[in-house]
Amino acid sequence: MKLTAFMMNLRWAFFLLSWACSSTQQQEINTTTTSRLPPGTSMPGKVLIVYLSRTNNTRALAEIIHKKLGGTLVALDLVAPYPANYQTTVQQVARENETGFLPPLKTKIDSIQRYDIVFVGFPTWGMQLPPPMKSFLRQYNLTGKTVIPFNSNGGYGIGSTFQTVKELCPKSHVLEGFTMRGGSERDGQLLVIQGDRAQEAERAIQNWLRTINLLK
Ligand SMILES: Cc1cc2nc3c(=O)[nH]c(=O)nc-3n(C[C@H](O)[C@H](O)[C@H](O)COP(=O)(O)O)c2cc1C
Repeated sequence: MKLTAFMMNLRWAFFLLSWACSSTQQQEINTTTTSRLPPGTSMPGKVLIVYLSRTNNTRALAEIIHKKLGGTLVALDLVAPYPANYQTTVQQVARENETGFLPPLKTKIDSIQRYDIVFVGFPTWGMQLPPPMKSFLRQYNLTGKTVIPFNSNGGYGIGSTFQTVKELCPKSHVLEGFTMRGGSERDGQLLVIQGDRAQEAERAIQNWLRTINLLK
């Protein structure tokens, strides 16, 4: 009788141990897949594509995403636009980053709560997220939404931009972003994502949207 009770306890111990192990495994799987939507997800709800673009490279990427997925496309405009001069703009952005100044937005987005997926597009500025995009992410409540960053840059990459998006959207599901080399205003190269480069961008964006399970 005592032996039977011992065997029963042993079985329970095994059961609890294997349950604990499988639930840990499950958690690991969940945390490693959070940057994509689950495979087979049908387009989950309404899409908003918000972008900042000075020389139209990021805009070209935004338009491709819009062509693939539809939704609402919105350019971020400022109450006080940046100067036309590149160097003056670089200096102003550096000051804004130092002081944490958030430039007021002229663009207003009606009923942001209608959207489930928010793409946020921006160039790299001073290896950081441009201040106007920080303004947008601070001003609008994206809690519970899927947020997807995309970027163009002058050849030095995303810098801290994607990380800052995550930090400013702590209650959103931030997916794996897209980045591509754009222009280099410093060297007089303005819009370069056009013609063959636009076709290249379209192929790359299509692959990325498939990778994150937003496109079949
Ligand atoms: C103020 C300013 C700062 C920039 N800083 C960087 C940078 O740190 N790294 C980089 O790779 N490109 C930098 N660039 C270049 C832009 O990221 C690049 O040209 C981008 O494609 C511009 O996008 P847009 O055409 O949508 O404005 C900077 C451009 C500007 C205007």
